Order: sequence, then C-alpha cells, then structure tokens
Amino acid sequence: MFLVSDASTRRVIDPTAAALAADGDRFRGSVAGISMASRPPLPSGIGLGLRVKLLPAIERGEADGQIAFLEVSPENHIHRRGGLPTRFARLAERFAISTHGLTMSLGGHEPFDPEYFAELKDFLDRYSAPGQWHSDHLCFGGVDGRAFHDLLPVPFTEACARRVAARVREAQDRLERPMLVENISYYLELGASEFDEPEFITQVLERADCGLLLDVNNIHVNALNHGVDPYDWLARVPLERVRQLHVAGPDRWDETLWVDTHGSPVRAEVKDLMAWVIERIGPRPVLLERDKNIPPLAELLAEARSLDAVYQLAVERWRARVNDVEGARAGARVRAPEGSVHAHV
Ligand SMILES: [Fe+2]
Repeated sequence: MFLVSDASTRRVIDPTAAALAADGDRFRGSVAGISMASRPPLPSGIGLGLRVKLLPAIERGEADGQIAFLEVSPENHIHRRGGLPTRFARLAERFAISTHGLTMSLGGHEPFDPEYFAELKDFLDRYSAPGQWHSDHLCFGGVDGRAFHDLLPVPFTEACARRVAARVREAQDRLERPMLVENISYYLELGASEFDEPEFITQVLERADCGLLLDVNNIHVNALNHGVDPYDWLARVPLERVRQLHVAGPDRWDETLWVDTHGSPVRAEVKDLMAWVIERIGPRPVLLERDKNIPPLAELLAEARSLDAVYQLAVERWRARVNDVEGARAGARVRAPEGSVHAHV
C-alpha cells in the first residue's frame, strides 16, 4: 500500500523532514506525560476526513492500510455524548490523527475564549502526537459572541496581517503546539485591501512564523470566481512553509459562480495543482475533504487511490529534482579548487 512506500521515501530523501520535526520540537517537551505521548508524527500521503457516515465502514477495517491518516475537526467531537467519543478513541488507536479546527476565528477581533482553548488543548493532547500541529482557517467566524457558521474573509491589510499573526502566536502558546493557517475560498473582498491574497498570506506566515495548510481547491475556486492565475498565486507564497495540503471538489452554482461545497470528486485542475506543489516541496500529508454528498467509503478510497497515483508521480519528480541538485553540488565540490569559498556550498 502507498503508506509504506511514502514512509520509506520520506526516510531516504526528504530533506525537509528535519524542518518539519523542528516545528514540533519547539513545543514537544511541554506535553510529556500525556497518556497518548507515544503517538507517531503525522505521516505524509493521502488522508481522509472523518465523517460520522463513514464510521461503521472504517470501524470494520475497510480503510486499514488504505489511507495515511484521518483528519477530524475537534469542534465536532468536544462535548459529544453517547457512544461517539469512545468510538473515536478506538479509531485514534489505529490511525494517525490530524486535527483541523473550524471556530478559532483567527481573523476575529474578540479575545480568545479560554474555555474553548482549554477544551481544544485537552483534545489535541489526547489524540494527536506531541508537538503535532493544529490548523484553522485564515478567516473570521463570528462577532459579539455569535458564531456565523461560515469562514469569512478578512481585509488584506498590514494592520490585519499584524493582528492575525499575533493571534496565531497566541494560539500556539495556548495550545503549546505549532499552528498552520489555511487559505480559504471567498466570494467577496472585505473592505479596501492594500495587498492581494498571496502577499497578505505571506505577511501573516512570516510575522507569526507559522506553517501553511495549503488548500489547493480553495485556490482553484478563487481562481474560477475571481480570475486569478492559480500558478502565479502559488509562486508568490512561501511554499517552504507548507506542512499539509487539502484537496476537495466544488460545485457550480450558476454561470459565474463556483461554490466550495466539498460535495464533489476532486477536479483534474486541483490534482494538477497538488502535483505542482508536491513536485516542488516533496512529500506532505494531503487530505481528501468530502463533507457533502458523502459516498460509500469504498468510493472515497478509490478516489484516494487515484489521488495517490498522481501524488506518487509528483514525489518521483521531486526526488529527481533533489538528485539533480545534489549531483550538481557534488560535482561543484569535486571541481572546486582547494580553499575555494564554494567548496562547501
Ligand atoms: Fe480545506
């Protein structure tokens, strides 16, 4: 199965693995003693979003060896009663867990709710690896204590970038874990922007010194709706900060609008964007998101295999690039005269 090949790929050739591990090392010591502290880091490869409808089939073992990880939104599990918490805890013993939040409102103005963070931290400490990142969206989701149940865009201004970055740093400190911020799909620009989205995101990432959860479907949807070139977009954000990717399928609303429903299979253009990124940055966890029109698990696993085929080819191209660069460096070392300042470059 593709997990094995990807794990070996990562061990042998991924020079970014140390950087990824270093993210977690900044925080890792602080959660020692938690009962789940022996969980391994999130593997690269294709993962699947956990939905209640999929639970029975996953519990029967139908996804075993087929996916690299399961992704959950803690907000869907905190405060749940009945049998679901126990069922999820059993799954978390069998699968690597990625956590992806919905309600942090990193772009909001109100102070963070300490109770929310305490419950979230407890969930993360239980179910994901020590030092493993948590992600949420680069958006605001409520005001005056009311949740909008939507992911709304923030103004692309320097003041906003400073404020969001400060909130990301605060979230990292509260959770004692690295944070990733995810680029969203949006249907209007909020207020008068000083920058375009790539520059705004770059400012947030660098001011917060955090990672990027790159949703290539969101880039695709925004490109369709706003006429942006997705490859120009990608070329202008710091790809070295990408720790994870999301892929999903949108739906067409009318002649002029596409909506990010997560209700369709991943489009060919989105697979191409994923491959373009993986070819440049190497193996990463890639989540297949499906939140509406959820088909039987077997159908999603077939889509995951199709994605993995594209992913593995991209990893091979990335490996060839790395080998070319290392070969050129080795050649330069051999050719460089003794004492040359280039000898160890
Ligand atoms: Fe996403």
